[in-house]
Amino acid sequence: MCGIVGYIGEKEAYPIILNGLKRLEYRGYDSAGIALFDGKNINLCKTKGKVVDLEKKFSDKQSNKGSLGIGHTRWATHGIPNDVNSHPHLSNSGDLVIIHNGIIENYASIKKELLNRGYTFTSDTDTEVLVNLIEDVKKKENVKLGKAVQIALNQVVGAYAIALFDKTKPDEIVVAKLGSPLAIGIGEEEFFIASDASPFIEFTNNAIYLEDEEMAIVRKGRAIEVRKIKDDSVVAPYIQELKLNLEQIEKGGFDHFMLKEIYEQPTVIKDTYRGRLLPTKGIIKLGGLENYIEKFTNADRIIIVACGTSWHAGLVAEYIFEDLARIPVEVEYASEFRYRNPIITEKDVVIAISQSGETADTLAAIKLAKEKGAFVYGICNVVGSTISRETHSGTYTHAGPEIGVASTKAFTTQITVLTMIALKLAKIKGSISNAHYMLLLQELEMIPSKVQEALETDSKIKEIASIFKDVSNFLYLGRGYNFPVALEGALKLKEISYIHAEGYPAAEMKHGPIALIDEQMPVVVIAVNSNHYDKVVSNIQEIKSRKGKIIAVVTEGDTTVKEMADYIMEVPNTPEVLTPLVTTIPLQLLSYHIAVMLEKNVDQPRNLAKSVTVE
Ligand code: G6P
Repeated sequence: MCGIVGYIGEKEAYPIILNGLKRLEYRGYDSAGIALFDGKNINLCKTKGKVVDLEKKFSDKQSNKGSLGIGHTRWATHGIPNDVNSHPHLSNSGDLVIIHNGIIENYASIKKELLNRGYTFTSDTDTEVLVNLIEDVKKKENVKLGKAVQIALNQVVGAYAIALFDKTKPDEIVVAKLGSPLAIGIGEEEFFIASDASPFIEFTNNAIYLEDEEMAIVRKGRAIEVRKIKDDSVVAPYIQELKLNLEQIEKGGFDHFMLKEIYEQPTVIKDTYRGRLLPTKGIIKLGGLENYIEKFTNADRIIIVACGTSWHAGLVAEYIFEDLARIPVEVEYASEFRYRNPIITEKDVVIAISQSGETADTLAAIKLAKEKGAFVYGICNVVGSTISRETHSGTYTHAGPEIGVASTKAFTTQITVLTMIALKLAKIKGSISNAHYMLLLQELEMIPSKVQEALETDSKIKEIASIFKDVSNFLYLGRGYNFPVALEGALKLKEISYIHAEGYPAAEMKHGPIALIDEQMPVVVIAVNSNHYDKVVSNIQEIKSRKGKIIAVVTEGDTTVKEMADYIMEVPNTPEVLTPLVTTIPLQLLSYHIAVMLEKNVDQPRNLAKSVTVE
């Protein structure tokens, strides 16, 4: 986690870095700092809190001049969030200054050695150890900064994206990457450094994404120099043209990014299937899949690895794949999978789902699966992300940048991709009738307009939110395809409103959670048209008999549940396999409105981060 930004060129660095940090705050927001070179000295300002607190501190206290600088927004790993532990960190001499996203795992032993040699430390961070290790190497070996960084990083175990400069040679920034993302924007006679391209999108469309174990030296007005950290060999950098635009990373009139992203779903689901789903021809075209169909159709099983909301999309996929394509599926938390010595063979296909494409646990799970010979397929949103590069092949969701920490449009677009894969495999395997296949293709094409209809019930959902905003607990129930949606609904509420919420399979409720039900307990039940409708109706009766308050997600026109429920949220009718794409919408809105009413920070909930690049 953490966001890093740097600039070297002719412009004033401060506004570029400050704006960049604001755009990267989704990566961490418990403290922030900037170091500028003012022509003579390093002007360092850092603070606990958000980037706006840093901005205030800077404007109150110090000059912000200089055309070389680095900045950081933090999600604490080593050391509590306070001013001292905030980045950037200076070396003992005060010459070197560094920002770091990641974890140096062997920092304690390096620190011990440096302490023995007289180095002192003011913070509890692993990063301050790293900058002093680099300084120590530089002095001992009498080498330039780039070489010192290279030697030092070869002694380090862990993950990093770093940027640093030396005030005695203020014409270059040295950057390096292993396990955390690092993009370099290439302008005219200037360079931008950042965790992703959003901080520099208005300045340049040309960027290099460093690969793991690469470092680069950027110098004003000179060509970039990229090398392998291990053996110093020169790498010819690949310059990408960025497709991102400024509008995509701004709020566009919405109060929060989360709301904007919820409302974008009709558009981005369409973007995700555009050119891939051809209902009139009965075709699904997925570039990344075409050459690997047999890997899937011959697979013993599919293992899905993911974290958080992406894991919930994986659970939905388990139902879809087994139901339609008749391929056995297991869904695993990436963090468990990677450490439990799983049995994986060359006949397994592993699907890794990740919005950011940077989640450390998912990445580690992929590496493990690859080592064991499995074919690994990625479903990522961020183009060029590490997971998209580490997998054998894959499909991008085209959700556009998701900035709200609570994931919304990533979830529905992931399900859209997974549904297309399952349908394609089902057709090839012959496990679906032609008529059913054709119908589902047409129905999938209609999902954006159904999501739009679901969004139009927003004001009603807001009313329900106002009734329940002050409760302490919520229960979410669903069956079949909508069990994972219940989990996702509960997660959304927890993440942004800090209200305790649990998702459960509706029938499993009687084995425990039913004990919690009383007149104080709102129970959100997903009770749309499905094979289990009658069973869910019985579950609702069980809750009612215990005086629980029922908020039901129902199909438009439903009468049975409508009579029993205290409140209803309606969604359009759709075939059961596609229902998660619409039932999710009211649950996203419910959690959003409750959090806003409770005056929580919707886009940046406490303790969370958008992209978890530490394990
Ligand atoms: C974090 C985010 C979640 C996200 C999860 C997995 O916890 O706050 O919203 O679902 O990471 O992220 P990924 O980028 O791999 O989908």
